[in-house]
Amino acid sequence: MNAPFAATALEQLRAEYASAPTDLFIDGKFVPAASGKSFEVEDPATGQVFAHAAAGDAADIDAAVKAARRALEGAWAKTNPAQRARLLTRLADLIERDGERIALTESLDNGMPFMMAKFAGVFGASEQLRYNAGWATKIAGETIEPSSPGEWHCFTLREPVGVVGAIVPWNFPFVMAVAKIAPALAAGCTVVLKPAEQTPLSAAYLGKLIAEAGFPEGVVNIVTGMGETAGAAIVDHMGVDKVSFTGSTSVGKLIVKNSTGNLKRVSLELGGKSPVMIFADADLAKAIPAAAMGIFGNAGQVCAAGSRLFVHEKVYDQVVEGVQGMAKALKVGPGLSPDTQMGPLVSAEQLTRVLGYVESGAGEGATVSVGGSRIEGEGYFVQPTVLTGTAAGMKVVEEEIFGPVLSVMKFGDEEIDVIAARANATEYGLSSRIWTRDISTALKLAKRLKAGGVMINGGAGVDPAMPLGGYKQSGWGRENGKAGVEAYTEIKSVTVAL
Ligand code: NAI
Ligand code: MG
Repeated sequence: MNAPFAATALEQLRAEYASAPTDLFIDGKFVPAASGKSFEVEDPATGQVFAHAAAGDAADIDAAVKAARRALEGAWAKTNPAQRARLLTRLADLIERDGERIALTESLDNGMPFMMAKFAGVFGASEQLRYNAGWATKIAGETIEPSSPGEWHCFTLREPVGVVGAIVPWNFPFVMAVAKIAPALAAGCTVVLKPAEQTPLSAAYLGKLIAEAGFPEGVVNIVTGMGETAGAAIVDHMGVDKVSFTGSTSVGKLIVKNSTGNLKRVSLELGGKSPVMIFADADLAKAIPAAAMGIFGNAGQVCAAGSRLFVHEKVYDQVVEGVQGMAKALKVGPGLSPDTQMGPLVSAEQLTRVLGYVESGAGEGATVSVGGSRIEGEGYFVQPTVLTGTAAGMKVVEEEIFGPVLSVMKFGDEEIDVIAARANATEYGLSSRIWTRDISTALKLAKRLKAGGVMINGGAGVDPAMPLGGYKQSGWGRENGKAGVEAYTEIKSVTVAL
C-alpha cells in the first residue's frame, strides 16, 4: 500500500523537529520558556526522542493568564459575534490547508494511525470550529415574566465566563485542544491551553495557525509543560475564571481540590469503563466489528472505549469468536506505516500500566484468550487483548485500563433491570452501547443506563453537535452542543421595574 502522505513532507517535518524545540505562544508571540528549559518528546513507535518542546511552568502560565485577561477586557471584548465566527471559520480553513502536516505530527507524537489522525484529528478539529462558529452569533439570553407585584421588564444576559484554562490529554491531542478552544472563543472567552507533556507538538503548531488567522494577541495562549508544574499553575491561578479539563479521574479530583482559591468554575471530562451490550437479536455483522474497534481503536486509549462487553448467551460464542478473530487479524504497527490499523501505546508508562492490568486479570482468574503481551522490539506496542471469564469485582472489570484490553461477560434472559444494574456497576458513567433490533429493549435500557451517552446499533463517535460528558465519576458538565458552548458563559439576570 502507498503511504497516504508525501514522504518528503515527513522528512521535512522530522528535520524541523530535530532542529529546535517548539516555543510557547504567549500574547501573540512565540517565546521559549522563561526558565529556558525544554523537555523531550518521544516517538512511541520507536521510543526515540525526536523533538523537544518548551517546558513552561508557573512563570509562563502567569504571563499567559495576564495576556488572556488583557485580551478579554480589550481587543476580544470589542469584537462582535460575527467577527468571532469569521475568525473561527478562518482557523478551520487553515487547519484543513495544513491537514497533512498536522496529521503527520499527531501520528509521530501520539502514535495513532495517520488516517485516524487525519479524520479524528484534522477533520474533527475543523468541524468543531465550524460548528462553534455558528454558535458565536446565536448565544442569547431570555426575556422572563416575573410574578412579583408590579410591572417589569426582566431578561438574562449570557456573558463570557472569562479567562479559561484548558488542560487536555494525549490520546487525541489536536482535536481535544481545538474542541476546548472553539466553544470558549465563540462565547467570548480567552484561553490558556496546556497540552499533555506526552504530545505537545500539534498544539504548538496550532499557535502558528491562530496567529495567521488574525486573532488578537492574547486571545489564545499555548503553554507546553508538565502537569505538575504548568497544569497545576493554571488550576491555582487567581486570574483563571474557569478550568476545562479532560484526563484521568484522579487528576480531575485533584483539580477540584486545588481550584478552591477563587472558586473557579470547573468542568471535567474524565475516564470511563463503558459497557457494550449485545443481545441475541442484534445485527452481529455490525455489532462484532463495532465491539472490536470500540476497544482496539486508538489502542483503547479512548475515554469512551467500550471496555466491558456483555453478550447474550445465545450468541456468546459467535460474538466472542468474531472479536477474537479481529483482535488476531489487526495490523499493529507504527502510525505512519500505511497498513497499520492499531498503533503503539503513547508511552512506556502506559505500556507498563496496561500490561499490569492484564497480569492482574489473569491473577484474578480471567482467561487471556487472545493477546496479552508486549510486542517485542522497539516502541510501546501491545497486542490487542481479549479477556474472557471476567466477573464483577475484578480490577480489569472495574478500573479504566486505557489500552486495547476487552473484558467479556455473559448474560441470559434476565429482567432488563438486572442487565442495567450490571452495566451500571461501575464508578464511571461516560458512554454505553446497545445492540438489539427490539426497540423496546433498547429504549428501556437507554433510560436505565447511568451514562452520559447511549449508542444504539452504532454511533458516529464524537459529533460537535451532540453533548458529551459523564455521569458519576466520569465528570462534571458537558462538552459539545449548546450545553458545551453555554458552559463557557455566566448568566446575568437583569430586572427592570417599570
Ligand atoms: P493525566 O490526567 O495525568 O493527564 C491529563 C492532563 O492533565 C495532561 O495535560 C497533564 O499534564 C495534566 N495534569 C497532570 N497532573 C496535573 C495536575 N496536578 N494539575 C493540572 N494538570 C495536570 O493522565 P495520564 O497520567 O497521562 O494518564 C493516566 C491515566 O489517565 C490513563 O491510563 C487513563 O486511564 C486516564 N486518562 C484518561 C483520559 C480520558 O480522556 N478520559 C485521557 C488521558 C488519560
Ligand atoms: Mg498523570
